[in-house]
Amino acid sequence: MTGVKVMRRHMKWIVPAIVVTTFSFLNVAFAGNPAAGAKIFKKKCKTCHRLSDGTKVGPGLAGVTSRRTNEWLHKWLTNPKAMIKKGDPIAVKLKKKYKKQMRTYKLMQDEENRENIIAFLKQNDENYEKQK
Ligand code: HEC
Repeated sequence: MTGVKVMRRHMKWIVPAIVVTTFSFLNVAFAGNPAAGAKIFKKKCKTCHRLSDGTKVGPGLAGVTSRRTNEWLHKWLTNPKAMIKKGDPIAVKLKKKYKKQMRTYKLMQDEENRENIIAFLKQNDENYEKQK
């Protein structure tokens, strides 16, 4: 086989490899930054939420990224009161159970901040599972 032929044979793998690599990088970029999420949690959420399954003012957040969809979490964080008003069954149930209501945060209107906090909660869930 000539060198050119060998190269052609490998060429068909190069393009998909580049595509896959690029997308996995993009994925990381969009997946949120757990360290930035941790900072938000400490500042804004810790007063009412534990990272275990123990209740504080609101529910313990361990396992929250598996019991809720990503979409639900985005909606909730953007505007919890609107979710209750619209009659979202999960939100209504939570409100009944916890009495005190979570408010809307300006910080959470930014998609990147929401991605970061969700990434942090996801990381917490993974660690929590391992500890069990
Ligand atoms: C003043 C207390 C308070 C603060 C601060 C607070 N929450 Fe909440 N959170 C609640 C309560 C209470 C609920 C239960 C639903 C309701 O009644 O609003 C809740 C529910 C939730 C849920 C749904 C839990 C589940 O089991 O589905 C998530 C997720 C959540 N909060 C995340 C956050 C994040 C992230 C922050 C910080 C940006 C935050 N909360 C700040 C009180 C708070």
